[in-house]
Amino acid sequence: MDQLQQYIADNKDRFLQELFGLIRIPSVSSQLSHKDDMGRVAHYWKQILLSAGADKAEVMPTKGNPVVFAEKIIDPLLPTVLVYGHADVMPVEPLDLWHSEPFEPEIRDGRIYARGADDDKGQSFMHAKAFEYLVKHDLLKVNVKFLIEGEEEVGSASLPAFCEANKELLKADFILVSDTSIIGPAIPSITTGLRGIAYWEVEVTGPSRDLHSGLYGGAVANPINVLAAMIAKTTDDNGHITIPGFYDDVIDVSDEERALMAQAPYDEAAYKASIGVDELCGETGYSTNERTGIRPSFDVCGIWGGYTGEGAKTVLPSKAFAKISTRLVPNQNHEKIARLFKTYFEAIAPKSVKVNVTPLHGGQGYVCPIDMPAYQAAEKAYEEVFGTMPVPVRSGGSIPIISVFEEVLGLKSLLMGFGLESDAIHSPNENFPLDQFFKGIETIVRFYGYLK
Ligand code: BES
Ligand code: MN
Ligand code: MN
Repeated sequence: MDQLQQYIADNKDRFLQELFGLIRIPSVSSQLSHKDDMGRVAHYWKQILLSAGADKAEVMPTKGNPVVFAEKIIDPLLPTVLVYGHADVMPVEPLDLWHSEPFEPEIRDGRIYARGADDDKGQSFMHAKAFEYLVKHDLLKVNVKFLIEGEEEVGSASLPAFCEANKELLKADFILVSDTSIIGPAIPSITTGLRGIAYWEVEVTGPSRDLHSGLYGGAVANPINVLAAMIAKTTDDNGHITIPGFYDDVIDVSDEERALMAQAPYDEAAYKASIGVDELCGETGYSTNERTGIRPSFDVCGIWGGYTGEGAKTVLPSKAFAKISTRLVPNQNHEKIARLFKTYFEAIAPKSVKVNVTPLHGGQGYVCPIDMPAYQAAEKAYEEVFGTMPVPVRSGGSIPIISVFEEVLGLKSLLMGFGLESDAIHSPNENFPLDQFFKGIETIVRFYGYLK
């Protein structure tokens, strides 16, 4: 054991207690009832960063939830790392599927079970502890800034304006983020791509009131039938999205890069077993990793309308609703896609209904160059801690603010994730293995050591 491993071993319990304090604040950004928790979580983060060794830490207002900014400047002439993370979490419903309280962290079989255990409280907190170690041992050779926001899970709507207004404050050389995953506990990887997203709510209105489905059925358009047909029409038999112009800006990935991607370890049987499906499906001509990594996708996230209560009620409903999202690849513009979708959905709707499309949020994709020096420092750090070289992987997930950092601050982000597939982020029983948590802290500290 070296000094770093000893420090982690000696301070294990304290690290966990501090993280548990963070997790116990139910900072669900999408639910108004948790508005006060968004302020509380920001203040808790401020204390974490001050006690870890920041020179200053502040809770700063935005148009929406507050952000926390902290820094330790050891020499203005040295490079600066800006650590980004999010303090907000996804809702916990359905509650009855949890085996323990979502906001009361519990350790079972070597994992922390709680909402936010991985995404992103567990992962972002590792940076605070790595920073603490470096400060305490006088090992910091760069300036470090922290930016922790409270709206990532709802699209980071207030952060672009905050970045515009605070360019000087956020000045740095690159952004460091732990909010992604690795292939497996023995197969480290570094995320080199994120997908963009465009998300809408659709309302389809038929008759002006709910009707008797016997008296009117067959003669009047049923908005649920119509909406289902419209959704079905949006992908063809090859898994291709049929919205005109949708693929216009998609950049085809070269055969060389596809061959390289295909080398990343992937166990299809395990993948299917882990999600309980017998067969996978998607766009013809692409592998599973390509379907999520370099191709866009179209999904209905929720659909409702009519009678869903107990027993049967014969009704021809007046309205149908759906939440619909597309995942986009780099170079597709989410605003343009939103226009194309709206035009298409209005065009394919029969005259018997009215369609209303409301955008909820959107964001651009991102690609991380593997030749940037910080990427190479990360490679060495993962190799040292996990025993093998990390492979570059394009993730299907999105972190919308990452492309804004590039546009507004001119900064690239390095995505040093430590989550696992089995962490069940956004799901009941979200968890984070203790081993990943401690290895993450170790990897981040070693990363700073390799930074030039
Ligand atoms: N941390 C995730 C994104 C992620 C997870 C990327 C794992 C890669 C691997 C993030 O918190 C998230 O959930 N993002 C949302 C964005 C949306 C709400 C705008 C997503 O991808 O659905
Ligand atoms: Mn996250
Ligand atoms: Mn998330």
